[in-house]
Amino acid sequence: MRKIILDVDTGTDDAIAIMCAIQSAELEVVGICTVNGNRGISYTTENTLRLLEYLGREEIPVYKGACLPMVSTLPAWRRPEVPYGGKPFREMEIHGDYLELPPSKNKKAEDIDAVSWYIKTLTTAKEKLTIVPVGPLTNLALALRVRPEIVDNIEEIVIMGAAYAHGNKTAAAEFNWWCDPEAAKIVMDCGAKITVIPLDATHKACVKGSEADVIESLGTKACIAAADMIKQRIRGYSTFQPMGDDMAPVHDALAVLYLIDKGVCEDVRPMYVDVDFGGGASDGMSIVDVDKRYYDKEPNCEFAFSANREKFVKLLTEKLSAR
Ligand code: RIB
Ligand code: CA
Repeated sequence: MRKIILDVDTGTDDAIAIMCAIQSAELEVVGICTVNGNRGISYTTENTLRLLEYLGREEIPVYKGACLPMVSTLPAWRRPEVPYGGKPFREMEIHGDYLELPPSKNKKAEDIDAVSWYIKTLTTAKEKLTIVPVGPLTNLALALRVRPEIVDNIEEIVIMGAAYAHGNKTAAAEFNWWCDPEAAKIVMDCGAKITVIPLDATHKACVKGSEADVIESLGTKACIAAADMIKQRIRGYSTFQPMGDDMAPVHDALAVLYLIDKGVCEDVRPMYVDVDFGGGASDGMSIVDVDKRYYDKEPNCEFAFSANREKFVKLLTEKLSAR
């Protein structure tokens, strides 16, 4: 069984990714770190806690992480919407502030913060751990800045973030990397084995409304909640970024399911990927060196350019209905 740490800004697609991970016999989720992203840290942490309580999985520890990106909010003009503070993002409909689940009653975040827990866990782990960050990379970057040697205990980092062909937060940048580009740069250059699951892949793995109906009909707690979230995402996407054919991406779940079956992604190639944090129009943009123009740079990741929608939906359905 592969031991993983999830790093989330829960959000509907993070929630579906968490459900897939904790219901997969192939994975053991040793902890979940939360970060500012889709919403402020109090929202993303509460959403994570309420999801685990809803599923009866209170034994999985949650570590509250960074409440702001590393430095990108310092110039006021650069990140006007981060942290989210009441002014709706354009993507509001996709997540809402809170997941539509009962508020957490008993489950609390652990006393130790996410960054300290990364350091403690990765300096003492007897076996290497896989990290799956599906929000801004702030927590892991901060931990790497304090104790760079933790990289020796990382098996692989599978990141949902970045984009080659187009952004979603801006024309140039994907949301997670846009939020904290400096953190993305630190993680990408840390020397660990890295796989990037970008928008290019997640947009090829959209889930349809009719498939959400099938998932709902399977009747597990995870299926019912996930089907609701997928439908919410389809409604949200249809207003701000229509995908056509009554469907929407469930980005973060693709990164988790890639751990179980690499076949859900396609055209995965070794690549040098950089990130712009210059503060201009392309701030947060991932720069993917497809033609090896940086001839002196070795690849720093495997980059998934596409996905297999049918395989993804099949595996998603299987994992959500597992219990
Ligand atoms: O760009 C998609 C990513 O941004 C997903 O992880 C979503 O949850 C948001 O964090
Ligand atoms: Ca996310």
